[in-house]
Amino acid sequence: MSVTLCETHSHEQIEEEIAKGCDVLYLEKPTNPTLKIVDIKRLVAAAKTEGALVIADNTFATPLNQSPLALGVDIVVHSATKFLSGHADAMGGLVCGSEELMAKPKRLLNIY
Ligand SMILES: Cc1ncc(COP(=O)(O)O)c(C=O)c1O
Repeated sequence: MSVTLCETHSHEQIEEEIAKGCDVLYLEKPTNPTLKIVDIKRLVAAAKTEGALVIADNTFATPLNQSPLALGVDIVVHSATKFLSGHADAMGGLVCGSEELMAKPKRLLNIY
């Protein structure tokens, strides 16, 4: 597996990297702790032209402020140790997506 890190503020750079071939686009938005924002719809459109899966870390925004699934993201992840639960009140994480995409993590949870 090869991973390319891109500047969050440069949609052009991200799109160029996607166009070289991409299986998974992983976004964190807003970024923690620098609060950089990405245009999710624009990057989802670029990823879909390459057939890439889009995963978004929505920890900082929480579902109260942003619904990445509604913007075309395939899988949303959250750290539940932060704003979602208060702060430092709980340990946990969430992964959300279609039943089909959640089948594998569900299976892993059953194993471990
Ligand atoms: C945006 C974001 N996602 C995930 C994590 C990981 O959180 P945890 O330590 O609860 O696994 C962090 C930690 O700082 C974070 O800032």
